[in-house]
Amino acid sequence: DRPPLILGLESSCDDTAAALLRGREVLSSVVMGQAELHAAFGGVVPEIAARAHAEKLDLAVERALEDAGVTLPQVEAVAVTAGPGLIGGVLSGVMLGKGIAAGLDVPLVGVNHLAGHALTPRLTDDLTYPYLMLLVSGGHCQFLIVRGPQDFSRLGGTIDDAPGEAFDKTARILGLPQPGGPSVEAEAAGGNARRFALPRPLLDRPGCDLSFSGLKTAMLRERDKLVAAQGGLHAQDRADLCAAFQGAVRHVLAEKTRRALALYLEEAPEVPAFAIAGGVAANGAIRSAMESLCAEHGVAFVAPPLRLCTDNAAMIAYAGSELLAAGERHGMDLAARPRWPL
Ligand code: KG4
Ligand code: ZN
Repeated sequence: DRPPLILGLESSCDDTAAALLRGREVLSSVVMGQAELHAAFGGVVPEIAARAHAEKLDLAVERALEDAGVTLPQVEAVAVTAGPGLIGGVLSGVMLGKGIAAGLDVPLVGVNHLAGHALTPRLTDDLTYPYLMLLVSGGHCQFLIVRGPQDFSRLGGTIDDAPGEAFDKTARILGLPQPGGPSVEAEAAGGNARRFALPRPLLDRPGCDLSFSGLKTAMLRERDKLVAAQGGLHAQDRADLCAAFQGAVRHVLAEKTRRALALYLEEAPEVPAFAIAGGVAANGAIRSAMESLCAEHGVAFVAPPLRLCTDNAAMIAYAGSELLAAGERHGMDLAARPRWPL
């Protein structure tokens, strides 16, 4: 009754990933990024991504097997991201997953990429359902109550940009290096947040939805005002702008988290827990705001390690293991879905 050896595959955005998992033990997790392929274009180019996934998926699987010290015939189940994402890459993964599962005659399960992110806290911590989750990265921003591997309630999310995207754009506006999150956070440490009055989007509206594109526009406006007035930016201007920006993001995220926590706690969960995942969870100011909110409400705070929060295949294998345990199986007709809300 040893848990099955599961191969996970992920290729829905710009990371080609394969992982091997047994139970909650990650035997290997290979992530091959494509950043350098897309760098010149200022964003992920779907056509380039699709070609790179098709080229690299086999290699990712080979490396994952090698790292885990197992051979392909030992694999007992295959879990593959079947969406949402860039369709070319998702198709490559789904086709390879079907091929391996058919060749080995083992179960195949298609996994929702977002479910992979949302279940990751259970891979790393002893979390029981239901828990509250904030997914906050360069591509995602949403509050979910996670009740089971196929049972999610979305409480709200961004109506435009994700916060990580706003951090990256802010860095670009101020001439700071990418990725923007860490460089804006470093600058903010020496800044005065009160010097600029930035907007707090959607705070006046009920519910847990968020918006970050107005904040980006406000940053652009403040920078242009300073440049017009003094011919350029001083180091202190940059620090103050970063502090104001980070303070605004923290303020809206904390307030919406407070509301999401209240909705979640209405259900009187036996062991209340809040998990935060995604690149932006690395931000010390944002993280500590969330931690103290949880402490205030008597809710456990969980933040899985970053390598499992950013796109990877271990989270897909883990979500697959829960789906398989729940009796979920897919056949050769498993479809790749560009859009697939939780
Ligand atoms: O989860 P992730 O690695 O990738 C996806 O978005 O899929 O998140 C990357 C995002 C980037 O936008 C990056 O600027 C942001 O997370 N980020 C941060 C920090 N570190 C990374 N944002 C704020 N503060 C940080 N310290
Ligand atoms: Zn993702």
